[in-house]
Amino acid sequence: MKRIKIGITGIGGFAQAFIPLFKAHPHVESVSIAELLPDRRKAAAEKFGLQRAFATHEELCASDVDAVAIITQRHLHGPQAIHALNHGKHVYCAVPAAGTLDEIGELVRTVERTGLLYMMGETSYYYPAAVFCREKQAQGAFGRFVYGEGEYLHDMSHGFYQAYQHSGGKDWKKVAGIPPMHYPTHSTSFIVSLTGAKLTSVSCLGYVDHTGDGVFGKGNNLWDNPFSNQTALFRVSNGGMCRVNEFRRVGCTVGNSVRTSIFGTEGCYEQQMERDSWTTLGEGVLHDVTDLLTCRMERSASEIDAAGGQQMDFFTSTAKIHPVHRLPRQFIGHGNGHFGSHQFLVDDFVRSVVQQRLAPNHVWAAASYTAPGLVAHQSAMREGEQLAIPDFGNPPAGSELIRYDAY
Ligand SMILES: NC(=O)c1ccc[n+]([C@@H]2O[C@H](COP(=O)([O-])OP(=O)(O)OC[C@H]3O[C@@H](n4cnc5c(N)ncnc54)[C@H](O)[C@@H]3O)[C@@H](O)[C@H]2O)c1
Repeated sequence: MKRIKIGITGIGGFAQAFIPLFKAHPHVESVSIAELLPDRRKAAAEKFGLQRAFATHEELCASDVDAVAIITQRHLHGPQAIHALNHGKHVYCAVPAAGTLDEIGELVRTVERTGLLYMMGETSYYYPAAVFCREKQAQGAFGRFVYGEGEYLHDMSHGFYQAYQHSGGKDWKKVAGIPPMHYPTHSTSFIVSLTGAKLTSVSCLGYVDHTGDGVFGKGNNLWDNPFSNQTALFRVSNGGMCRVNEFRRVGCTVGNSVRTSIFGTEGCYEQQMERDSWTTLGEGVLHDVTDLLTCRMERSASEIDAAGGQQMDFFTSTAKIHPVHRLPRQFIGHGNGHFGSHQFLVDDFVRSVVQQRLAPNHVWAAASYTAPGLVAHQSAMREGEQLAIPDFGNPPAGSELIRYDAY
């Protein structure tokens, strides 16, 4: 059996959920880590029983690992992924793919030049709503795509202050004020991955933050970003439209923080805070599919509060619709947070490297989820001016993808 050596860069909060899964995967020979902060590095090496713990991403990339998983702060991803690829490593990277259009271009070109595998760790792709809509799409049940919605509603007070302070030191606000549309992929991926179309132009508006906490506003963050909430309307290359909301000040903490709705000429799926519905033109009946798509919780509400009030997303597991039969049996008993996505993410990346086939969220998909948000923010800074979104291309002809629902 082919087994690979994995390295993980960035052992903050999120990576803690992924180390045990990479360790447990039957096709993984060893897991090494790299973490800048010495206490964090030492604690993780002890907690997870890891033999090798490097001080930097650069040292990890100079080692003999086959692949690197980058789980660092979001604005660092592009250059770190390019560095790893240039050192011969396959790359898994937490979202988003990069922070500028130039970085995205270089990332795509580096994958094309090196022939290495790249996968963006988009959790939404594995959410029950996305799985359900892909099944309906495969059956042709939507008809032609007309309109889609994707949104990520996450108030700063709900775990974000803690998360940014955790690694940002006294300068944490410089990074916490990242434009919401620089983190668009949970929303855009629903529409792009379902339709296979691209988002080609955008008009976006921003909500100027007025809480006065020094996070958003000119001079407060690396981007001089004044907006805590942004709403964008995109043209989709198949003739349809979509609307994306990225809100970081919003009085909504129940149900799914990431949601989609898809409206086609023949069928419609609508996701509300705690209800999922499906209907078709032919039937004229509203089907409540909430039970099929609701993830069971790994912990009770009081246990989550006791754990420090992290978002409930970290403690959700799979729903009935998930094809759990294809996951390695070694994952049984391990966590599977963010609506059942963690185990699929790890398994898809490892299978992609072992089988030398593209994962669904390959670099061209990652570019088409990330770039629209970067241009949307430019549009918001120009009060909604409609701007064209560059296309970073598609996988080379003849590329094979791993399968989602079977091994
Ligand atoms: N649903 C999702 O997809 C989801 C959920 C949570 C977090 N995330 C993403 O995961 C990433 C990590 O989030 P987090 O909350 O764990 O962040 P974090 O700030 O807690 O951890 C990042 C770690 O990376 C380390 N690091 C940075 N540069 C490094 C380098 N060159 N070498 C070694 N270590 C380095 C930092 O010291 C820090 O400990 C973010 O990009 C975030 O957006 C995604």
